[in-house]
Amino acid sequence: MSHPTFAMISCAVGAETAVKASVFEEGWRLAFSRPGFVTLKHEDQKSPPTGTFIRTSSLSIGSSRDPSLSHIAENLLSQLDKKFDANRPFNQLHVWSKDRAPIGRFGFEPGPDEVSEAVSQEIFPLLAKKWLTCDHPNRIAESGDRVLDLVLVEPSHCFLGWHEASDWHTRWPGGVQPLTPKEEPISRAYYKAAESITWSGFPLRPGETAIEIGSAPGGACGRLLELGLKVIGIDPAEMDPRIAENTNFIHLRARAGDLPRKVFRGAKWLLVDSNVAPEKTLTTIKNVVLHRDCTLEGLLVTLKIGNYQASQKIADWTSEIETWHPQRVRVRQLARNKVEVCFAIAFSR
Ligand SMILES: C[S@@+](CC[C@H](N)C(=O)[O-])C[C@H]1O[C@@H](n2cnc3c(N)ncnc32)[C@H](O)[C@@H]1O
Repeated sequence: MSHPTFAMISCAVGAETAVKASVFEEGWRLAFSRPGFVTLKHEDQKSPPTGTFIRTSSLSIGSSRDPSLSHIAENLLSQLDKKFDANRPFNQLHVWSKDRAPIGRFGFEPGPDEVSEAVSQEIFPLLAKKWLTCDHPNRIAESGDRVLDLVLVEPSHCFLGWHEASDWHTRWPGGVQPLTPKEEPISRAYYKAAESITWSGFPLRPGETAIEIGSAPGGACGRLLELGLKVIGIDPAEMDPRIAENTNFIHLRARAGDLPRKVFRGAKWLLVDSNVAPEKTLTTIKNVVLHRDCTLEGLLVTLKIGNYQASQKIADWTSEIETWHPQRVRVRQLARNKVEVCFAIAFSR
């Protein structure tokens, strides 16, 4: 007789309904849910689900609730002993807290925090003896690594699962890109841009030209300049002087739709992060990419959904983008996205 599969998912607070809607279609049933964390059950599916709003997805091993962390560790260890072969230990341990607030609210950012760091330091030596080959928790996994995932739903309520690392976001602890900028970023869009570039796999190289629509005050441009690109920022608002004064930066102080197409000529990459309705943004981009002189190879487009009910429109937006004949379109709510999604659109030129 086959056993049901349990999966555990981290997502942004508020995105749970969108997560459930996508996985219910595949036959998953709800087991336990909190804002930012969902567990599911399936009778015959063997791998954990994926989807636009799913930040991390693991096969569930078990959970433990206890005021004492050593009791939690004991309990989880006995569940590991029952279900896994100790001759095949895991390569990494990732520990993070489920989101406690919507992204950006009161400055909240997702991923490992002080509480999960403290828990990981305490629990790592207990698990490492028998179950881990890594020397430290929360290292970036290699593709193919088997990763033990410990999610703190509360500091005294932990869920343990595992997944096999593949794409970038499955390699980062809690699905959040670990990044320590050399200088204080101008805005949090720095992290968003960094994440979108890595996730997309677009090979941005020094000396190439990238344009950003909706570039002020300049967090994302800061990341592009750091990567050695020449950057054109389009925004009616003022840029931070640290960007405006960079010799590799040009500011076109205008609305994107009001500019002649020729300003996009020669650019290889386009980032879009303007606070404009998605349909209007798509019209502006369409006019650029369908122009005969267009040289763009990769677009990273942030669309503000407004609210999670509107996530049904993603299918329509994808169909619209497909009429431009791209080579590949992917969409994901990045860990650093508020109520937004990022489209990575590749063109072969
Ligand atoms: C979320 S902010 C962008 C943050 C920016 N990407 C960064 O890295 O700091 C949105 C920006 O879109 C700009 N914007 C709104 N409508 C625009 C349009 N039609 N064309 C260009 N920029 C626009 C706004 O002025 C605002 O600065």
